[in-house]
Amino acid sequence: GKVEPLRIMISGAPASGKGTQCQLITQKYGLVHVAAGDLLRAEIASGSENGRCAREYMEQGKLVPDEIVVMMVKDRLLQPDSQEKGWLLDGYPRSSSQAIALKELGFKPDLFILLEVTEDILVERVVGRRLDPITGKIYHLKYSPPETQEIASRLTQRFDDTEEKVKLRLHTHHQNVKAVLSMYEDITVKINGSLAKEDVFAEIDSALSRLVEKRKSTSESL
Ligand code: AP5
Repeated sequence: GKVEPLRIMISGAPASGKGTQCQLITQKYGLVHVAAGDLLRAEIASGSENGRCAREYMEQGKLVPDEIVVMMVKDRLLQPDSQEKGWLLDGYPRSSSQAIALKELGFKPDLFILLEVTEDILVERVVGRRLDPITGKIYHLKYSPPETQEIASRLTQRFDDTEEKVKLRLHTHHQNVKAVLSMYEDITVKINGSLAKEDVFAEIDSALSRLVEKRKSTSESL
């Protein structure tokens, strides 16, 4: 029989390494990366009314209202590529209402990855983070420096990547994380995200490989 595509959620505090790991996961597993924060930043860049509204919340490190976020994520998950290749949902759900909305729409994850990172490391990661606007690649001045001078000269910083703003984002994260976790307890895998990015990926990779193997043996026995 046909092997079902994977449906994965990845969660963790701001700057815990979700986006970095998603780039490594999609390279190997070919899933469609659906990042709530990226969808919101694209909406802001488009100049829409929803984008303008979203930015006000993001600047305060608060959750953007469900009316905006749920619809955006749903539309992306319903695209043919996500349906065919499977999806890797990053930064969603961040509240029980978002988790419930997803469930009611019929989207059910196979695995919930939680990246655990200590707070002092998070602040250092946020402040040193830079983005390449051309390739979308995530860098860090100390931990993942740009490969060439040309890339270095075009790197940008996110408007919410200051020490002050990350404290607000962390506060929001702590308020919501328990409620979200409790809804996925049976499929959660906790990963030590404080290690080097290759070591974090090795742990994620082994969890995903086990899942793929299980899938294959089930589809063979059908
Ligand atoms: P979002 O864009 O999702 O931001 P976030 O959750 O704060 O997470 P980040 O993107 O900051 O970090 P990351 O975990 O991806 O880390 P990264 O890999 O870049 O959300 C932004 C805002 O949008 C929210 O505050 C909210 O307002 C709104 N929003 C988003 N989703 C929402 C939702 N569902 N509902 C409502 N509102 C929503 O890594 C960070 C840095 O560390 C990089 O420089 C990287 O190079 C480095 N690094 C990564 N891994 C390692 C490692 N292992 N060792 C050393 N350095 C590392």
